[in-house]
Amino acid sequence: MLFVLIIHLISITSVSTQSRLYGPGLRASFQVPVRYFYLQSYDSKGHKLNYSSQSVDHIIFHLTRVSDQLSVHSYRKIDDLNDGTYLFRYRLYESVENLHLYIRFGNEDIEHIVKGYIYSDGCYCPQKNLTEWFNSLECSSSSLSISQLREDLKLFNKIDMNKIINKAKEKYFQYPQTYALCHYVIKNNKIYRKCYGEHIGFKTFSDAVLLSLSRKIILPDIEFLMNLGDYPLSSDDDPIPIISWCGSEQTHDIILPTYEITEATLQMLSRTTLDIFALRTTHHLPWPKKIPKGFFRGRDSCQERLNLVRLSKKYPDLIDANLTRMFFFRDQKSEFEPFAEYIPMTKFFDYKYQISLDGTVASYRLPYLLAGDGLIFKQTSSYYEHFYRDLIPYKHYIPIKKDLSDLIEKIQWAKDHDDEAQQIVKRAQRFTQRNLLPNHILCYHVQVLQEYAKRLISPIKISSDMELVQHEFDESHIKKDNCVCHRLENLNHIDL
Ligand SMILES: *[C@@H]1O[C@H](CO)[C@@H](O)[C@H](O)[C@H]1NC(C)=O
Ligand SMILES: *[C@@H]1O[C@H](CO)[C@@H](O)[C@H](O)[C@H]1NC(C)=O
Ligand SMILES: *[C@@H]1O[C@H](CO)[C@@H](O)[C@H](O)[C@H]1NC(C)=O
Repeated sequence: MLFVLIIHLISITSVSTQSRLYGPGLRASFQVPVRYFYLQSYDSKGHKLNYSSQSVDHIIFHLTRVSDQLSVHSYRKIDDLNDGTYLFRYRLYESVENLHLYIRFGNEDIEHIVKGYIYSDGCYCPQKNLTEWFNSLECSSSSLSISQLREDLKLFNKIDMNKIINKAKEKYFQYPQTYALCHYVIKNNKIYRKCYGEHIGFKTFSDAVLLSLSRKIILPDIEFLMNLGDYPLSSDDDPIPIISWCGSEQTHDIILPTYEITEATLQMLSRTTLDIFALRTTHHLPWPKKIPKGFFRGRDSCQERLNLVRLSKKYPDLIDANLTRMFFFRDQKSEFEPFAEYIPMTKFFDYKYQISLDGTVASYRLPYLLAGDGLIFKQTSSYYEHFYRDLIPYKHYIPIKKDLSDLIEKIQWAKDHDDEAQQIVKRAQRFTQRNLLPNHILCYHVQVLQEYAKRLISPIKISSDMELVQHEFDESHIKKDNCVCHRLENLNHIDL
């Protein structure tokens, strides 16, 4: 017995524990669909390493339950950030009380216990206190001023849904080929909707985030119109509040994070491959090795994209721009063939300069471009997403005129000011780390709902033709009986 104990003591003391874990995924209350934390590696003298010393293939990462030491049903991924730190991500498929993280890194054993109740994304276990939820998700760590939201709500101090629905019937519901809108009601944390329009497939996206949020918090009772189309709708001199994924200077819609980045948040490491971490976790050429040209690939969704390709033919030393496919300007196809092969966005960053042009509306790839390590040249545009207002020209990106007339001179400037270019890149990356991570995306959604709900003056009614939006329990979600919610006892008759 004593012998065993001594062996055990020796094996513990011989383990060096140089590496440090940090990040929100070490706390139970940080409930995002995929939790994440980092490992900082050190050399034997205790200095932080700034290069990668271990291949991720040799790192072991286990999750077990503290109570019975059984492994926890989860999906895990480790990424080498190539600067001496590693990103660890995990998606849980069951809820756990006290989770044991074990990492084998080189010859080190690193352990951490996530104390408390940890719920999977599929587990219905909403908390009542929104302030607590905002705190646990570190919502206020975002440097976004939410000036966009304040601006969006300025015109709508009192929201009377009876009036809004009547107007929407006249202006939108009558034209199902042109508009796609859903009328949502959330009451007692249940979600109901009725949609209008022929192309309402995108309701899956708005459903998904509302359902996911309702499993985490008790949403305010609310009633609103959600625009499923690309174009913002709320125009004219008597605008109505409509929630959209994209705004424009000519319209008055209330803007949510796009379905693109929201889906990437909810389905991270599951149905989507591109997410806000992907640009850091894939290895691209270091700055000095990158090709010093402006780069663009995409389809022909606006005139300037064609003009950019023409410019690139004229200045092949400064720009490499090609279309991958044509849909809108097919009559001009012969000029642009052969089309370029599709390449994943991570490969874009073999080039130093990334040209960001509008699509049909704002280009929803901008968050990912900002997260990458290229300098962004952003076309001036009337369209915007929820965070554009906080992006500062020349601090986070280089602005270019809508007609691209100053692009060549600005690329030339960047080539002549390489240090400044790199500073802008670093600030853009920091901006995405502070404002566009999964917690920030969920926070912004809830802020919109909360602020909107405060302004509602009409009683919230579920009309008889509305459909209840159900939680799905497919294989990517936890089975209902694996979700043990300690809060439910206090939740009084909220059942699924
Ligand atoms: C890594 O650290 C060493 C020693 O502290 C330093 O000389 C070197 O410049 C650093 N490299 C990078 C890429 O930061
Ligand atoms: C919600 O949580 C905050 C912070 O913990 C606390 O100050 C506040 O009193 C709570 N509100 C309610 C209604 O319990
Ligand atoms: C893209 O365009 C540039 C010049 O505009 C051309 O040199 C290059 O071969 C094209 N690349 C592809 C993959 O089509």
